[in-house]
Amino acid sequence: MRNISILSAVVVSMGLSGCGDNTPPATGTPKAPPPPALTEAEKVAMLATLPAPYSAGDLENGRRVFARCRSCHTITPGGPNMTGPNLYGVFGRAAGSDAKFSYSHAMRTAGFSWDADKLDHWLQNPRTFLPGNKMTYPGLPDATDRRDVIAFLKVETGFKPETAKAAASATAPLS
Ligand code: HEC
Repeated sequence: MRNISILSAVVVSMGLSGCGDNTPPATGTPKAPPPPALTEAEKVAMLATLPAPYSAGDLENGRRVFARCRSCHTITPGGPNMTGPNLYGVFGRAAGSDAKFSYSHAMRTAGFSWDADKLDHWLQNPRTFLPGNKMTYPGLPDATDRRDVIAFLKVETGFKPETAKAAASATAPLS
């Protein structure tokens, strides 16, 4: 206690007490701070850097389409797994590789990493794309909806162009 009061006396004397960050340092396991969320302008700028057709994606429609996924998936950094796995960082991630999620055998052994093209086929018809998977979702038949939800996920799930490149070179051809 004594140390804390000394510390706060120092903070006050340094004139920092008004900055609103008086929370004591967290104890327990240190947690990496979540990456800063992109501003709307940064999202639009990122959209423009995506390859066609995603650069022409409609983020608002993507958000609306993603409402159909939200009952099973979160997309925030470190967000919980629900019926489906958290999708933050999904681009460049090996399919079925979130250690805390219990995937189907089909998904765990799929042997590829997610990119826009894979996601497009998956979302068009999950059942035929990966037989035996357990995502009970019929799919998005509309190509524009798929384009928009993929563009939305690119800007919302921490996609980085370098990750995409690494994923492309690490992707083993489907046998
Ligand atoms: C009814 C719940 C449900 C809905 C709705 C749903 N999903 Fe899923 N999703 C799952 C489950 C369960 C899995 C794991 C499948 C497996 O293990 O076979 C999954 C897996 C995935 C994966 C693979 C993740 C990984 O870690 O490899 C992606 C990508 C995905 N879903 C995207 C979507 C998108 C985008 C939508 C909306 C268009 C959607 N899902 C709608 C339940 C759902």
